[in-house]
Amino acid sequence: MDVLRIKGGQPLYGEVEVSGAKNACLPLFAACLLTDQECILENVPDLADVRFMAELLRHLGASVEKLDTHTWKIEAKNIETRAPYDLVRKMRASVCLMGPLLGRCRQAEISLPGGCVIGPRPIDLHLKGFTRMGCEITTEKGYVHLDGKAMRGSQVFLGGRHGSTVLGTANILMAAVLTPGVTRIESSACEPEVVDLCHFLQAMGADIEGVGSHELVVTGVQKLKGARHAVIPDRIEAGTLLIAAAMTRGNLLVKGLRPGHLTALLDKLEEVGVSFSQESPSAIRVQGGDTYQPVDIVTLPHPGFPTDLQAQMCALMAITPGLSIVTEKIYPNRFMHVPELQRMGADIAIEGHSAIIKGNKILSGAPVMASDLRASAALVLAGLAASGETWVQRIYHLDRGYEKLEQKLSQVGARIERLDESALPAEFSEE
Ligand code: EPZ
Repeated sequence: MDVLRIKGGQPLYGEVEVSGAKNACLPLFAACLLTDQECILENVPDLADVRFMAELLRHLGASVEKLDTHTWKIEAKNIETRAPYDLVRKMRASVCLMGPLLGRCRQAEISLPGGCVIGPRPIDLHLKGFTRMGCEITTEKGYVHLDGKAMRGSQVFLGGRHGSTVLGTANILMAAVLTPGVTRIESSACEPEVVDLCHFLQAMGADIEGVGSHELVVTGVQKLKGARHAVIPDRIEAGTLLIAAAMTRGNLLVKGLRPGHLTALLDKLEEVGVSFSQESPSAIRVQGGDTYQPVDIVTLPHPGFPTDLQAQMCALMAITPGLSIVTEKIYPNRFMHVPELQRMGADIAIEGHSAIIKGNKILSGAPVMASDLRASAALVLAGLAASGETWVQRIYHLDRGYEKLEQKLSQVGARIERLDESALPAEFSEE
């Protein structure tokens, strides 16, 4: 396993390019199962999760070919409908195979995803939606069996205790586009990744109205055709890089992003006192200052503050003098990064679903352990800003969602390198 060694205190200067969005391309790959014609996906990030989704589609019988680092060709002529546990357990997003398999084949057999470190990952809203559409669902030996022969368009409500569901909306959408009748999805998620999926489905010939709103109206069609589609930029990677520039008090131009996908973060960074400017329709420059203000943050469904940037903001608040409160409303236990930030000197207390952060000027480098994708990113940011050396272990979590992050950061001045874990100083290695 690899580790990252970071020598902190180096401001980031220069330009960095954002990759395609992981959370857009996973459902986009699944949507290619909806047609027997060839689909081409461009601007696909080079990530472990993407390679895994490709393996899953191959397992289902699709031909999946990587044309170049960021372009894939997918052709699902004849497909199976069973996704086994040993595959699904490795990536929860596999649940979004249910919708296209029901739409195309009227049946699916998917292993239940299980939980992960950020908390239980239920799919009750997904299954409630399919049931509303007439799907017969049974659960046996950890597998969900879905029989969609009687499915018809219907009214589906996807509001849950934590708001809507992103992959649940994607799942219902991908079943509804090939289900006879009209399906009205109320309290649907409107994250940019869901909008991107709608655009791809429309390019394939789907009839979807209300794109970008919390109410989608889908009229089923007989067949969908292949299409070519470029994945939207990754707003979470973009946000992570903007926060990195703020924390290292550098001067960084983040290119290839969509400012409109980052309004909640930009609003917060402005409140903190980070100076930034939009230099083109797809580039934002951050010039880190030295007097930031503490802020209160509550994570909410889009267009609210994204939960996937919560850990990174905790790292920024940890070096911002004053009292900040970060409340997590989407995954209430998503604070795995806090104990590791505390090892670096952060003064954070968890009260219920909130982190109470007493910011102090500087963190000190330390050996830390990544636990999930966004917690890992927060530890890298903290290491960049800390004094001394930080070793981040278990960075396979990072590789799931960030394409060559250490290369991008070192190209703009960060002293960060990926080493084999054998390079870890003896006193740091895991027992
Ligand atoms: C997507 O997960 C993202 N993953 C997550 O990003 C992101 O944090 C999340 O949306 C919220 O924005 C992908 O797109 C692959 P949800 P998803 O269904 O769709 C509850 C990352 O770091 N819920 O919107 O699985 C659920 O427990 C990852 O890139 C139910 O109760 O999330 C959570 O509290 C992490 N019942 C809330 O809703 C359900 O049936 C939001 O979950 C489904 C969800």
